[in-house]
Amino acid sequence: MSRPLRETDGPCHVAIIMDGNGRWATQKGRPRLFGHHAGARRVREIVEACPDAGVKYLTIFAFSTENWKRTQVEVAGLMSLFRRYIMKEMQAFVKENVRVRFIGDRPRLDAKLRGLMDEAERMTGHCTGTNLTIALNYGGRDEVARATQRLAQDVADGKLHPDDVNEETLPRYLDTHVLPDPDLVIRTSGEARISNFLLWQSAYAEYEFVDTLWPDFSAEEFAALCGAYGKRDRRFGAVGR
Ligand code: IPE
Ligand code: IPE
Ligand code: MG
Repeated sequence: MSRPLRETDGPCHVAIIMDGNGRWATQKGRPRLFGHHAGARRVREIVEACPDAGVKYLTIFAFSTENWKRTQVEVAGLMSLFRRYIMKEMQAFVKENVRVRFIGDRPRLDAKLRGLMDEAERMTGHCTGTNLTIALNYGGRDEVARATQRLAQDVADGKLHPDDVNEETLPRYLDTHVLPDPDLVIRTSGEARISNFLLWQSAYAEYEFVDTLWPDFSAEEFAALCGAYGKRDRRFGAVGR
């Protein structure tokens, strides 16, 4: 199992399930997409709060493999929001030295969006600050299935021996292969479930479920959760300190 990269009090890698956009909008008597737009605007502030909180990796859940079950209007609105978001934010991320990556199953996304995702990864490829990973059409089970398919192909091609399939080699086939495991997973909106997010990688993560709806989640609340993480006793199966 991979460990945090640094032995500090703060979490090195925070993953966030950004939930509650729809309810936030409904509470205001507005359409759900209004909430998604407000939610997207929150992201920059949280990314900017990372260096002070000691967070080197931030991974955010933007769209799940299950979210296709929503209405065509909502799905199309979200896809259009993702395209516009990438176009609008990329220059700022380059300026702020933020390295952007995407995880998830790309072929199902439209070509224009995929092109923008590739371009964002290329444009920020040299950035050495915060590592922002956006999970888009991402599902933990789907990721493990796709990884297993590639692994099986390598075995069939004689590149990997079945005896060498283990906890070290399997994660090399995951979308997250260049990232450390998350130390802290936050979910907003009061739901206490993980909804298929980073299943393999979060085996030993700490969890925080907060009631705040994502469009109301602030840098202050983020910093407080990162601070509280430092007081937890992570045992990894051993005896506590
Ligand atoms: C999270 O907010 C964003 C996505 C899943 C795309 P929701 O849209 O799930 O908001 P609620 O849970 O309905 O309030
Ligand atoms: C999880 O939220 C997915 C994202 C935040 C992108 P959902 O709102 O889709 O999860 P469920 O349906 O409540 O489990
Ligand atoms: Mg939700």
